[in-house]
Amino acid sequence: MPDDISSPTGLKYQRILLKISGEALMGPAEYGIDTTTCLRLAEEIAGARAATGAEICLVIGGGNIFRGLSGAASGMERSQADSMGMLATIMNALAMQSALETIGVQTRVQSGIRMDEICEPFIRRRAIRHMEKGRVVIFAAGTGNPYFTTDTGAALRAAEMHCHAMFKGTQVDGVYSADPKNNPDAQRYDRLTYQDVLARDLRVMDASAVSLMRDTNIPIVVFSLHKKGALQDVLTGKGPSTVISDT
Ligand code: GTP
Repeated sequence: MPDDISSPTGLKYQRILLKISGEALMGPAEYGIDTTTCLRLAEEIAGARAATGAEICLVIGGGNIFRGLSGAASGMERSQADSMGMLATIMNALAMQSALETIGVQTRVQSGIRMDEICEPFIRRRAIRHMEKGRVVIFAAGTGNPYFTTDTGAALRAAEMHCHAMFKGTQVDGVYSADPKNNPDAQRYDRLTYQDVLARDLRVMDASAVSLMRDTNIPIVVFSLHKKGALQDVLTGKGPSTVISDT
């Protein structure tokens, strides 16, 4: 199995890991999983794959159901709270698997915490094989360890899967100097280095995830998931995004 994958389609990023927050699955609700929103996201992923031939794997957070850090802040033991957060990401992974398969996209869920009755365990080489066969692999349960975020889990899987980029789908179309919702003068960046993000504390994702992406030289592409077709546009270099890399 080749470790390096070339792009038969001329795409800059042939294999990507798409990281979305658990909140992206809530839709208009304040908690939980909105199936219509999951379907919309599934269509976005299916459309981008069909149009570009990109290989896409997915990591979804768990904050729509439970956040380990908030649990710890309210007095829970941190490892226990993080375990609950990781279980939340498995629910989200299964919801997205269901949505993707509803529209005919083949998927496999692999979990960092063994839960053999409901999904596969994470096996790196098997996950690569699934992707080569055109399946969307959804990685659940973060790194399988407490004290890490799903951003770090996503960075780890992106590196293990030899992804050409990690795409972070957010509420806004890139990285800004301040929160653009509260600050109309916030400046949007087209490009940043990893060091810019770390030194200026731009909070794109947590520092350990950014450091791992820097060490493995995998660009982070931040874009908005709100506009229909945004993933396809960014993959083909048309849509707005901020690219974080050292080149
Ligand atoms: P190929 O070998 O490439 O055909 O991959 P495959 O995933 O189709 O093969 P396999 O026969 O291993 O899996 C068939 C189905 O069982 C797939 O839906 C897998 O996701 C599922 N599956 C495989 N291993 C496990 C597991 O450990 N737990 C659970 N719950 N499902 C599994």
